[in-house]
Amino acid sequence: MTIIAPSLLSADFLNLQSEVEAFKSAKDLWFHLDLMDGHYVPNLTFGKTVLKGLHKVTAHKLDAHLMVSNPEDYIEALSDIGIHNFTFHWETVNHQDCLIRELKKLYPSVGISLNPATPIEAIPDYIFNEVDLLLIMSVNPGFGGQYFIEGVVDKIKKANQIKKDRNLNFHIQVDGGINDKNAPMLISSGATMLVAGSYIFNTDSNDYLKRVDSLR
Ligand code: DX5
Ligand code: ZN
Repeated sequence: MTIIAPSLLSADFLNLQSEVEAFKSAKDLWFHLDLMDGHYVPNLTFGKTVLKGLHKVTAHKLDAHLMVSNPEDYIEALSDIGIHNFTFHWETVNHQDCLIRELKKLYPSVGISLNPATPIEAIPDYIFNEVDLLLIMSVNPGFGGQYFIEGVVDKIKKANQIKKDRNLNFHIQVDGGINDKNAPMLISSGATMLVAGSYIFNTDSNDYLKRVDSLR
């Protein structure tokens, strides 16, 4: 089953607990948490205090997507608040393999993220054995509600081919501009996890679970 990861960036920040509780009965669902530092991307979101609170009110897995210039600085800080997956941007680090190794000691799942303009060939073969998740950005990071960049579909297919050729199991997560129109094509291209913010939360009916189902 494709995992759906609602991005809380588009949720109502003043009512986060009830927003999160609305997904209580959903299966195969992670909460996607976009951490931005106002430096790597021109936006700021939330930090440890908010994440810690979220962990107390949900049993769903927490998926941290760090859009920050120095992900190394957050390894320890986020390690004791129930984060399941820690994803950093490949482009922000010089010694990615060292960082992956450090993260593995503290988090059940470790992900790397590629901006739309970063080719999959930027990642050396051996890295695919080390990660649990590959995040393929389908918008340039920083904001919710942007348009899906079609050019990344090829990258999803290439990642899926790498998995097949080498019998690997990492998740292929796609993030940005996802809705019920492009989701089927993303799943058939190899995506195993879809992140969606505005599509899920910007509804008149507030029926988030219906939106989650419609993505599958
Ligand atoms: C963008 C974030 C996304 C964002 C997706 O930088 O990484 O997770 O919240 O939002 P939508 O689904 O609205 O594009
Ligand atoms: Zn994200």
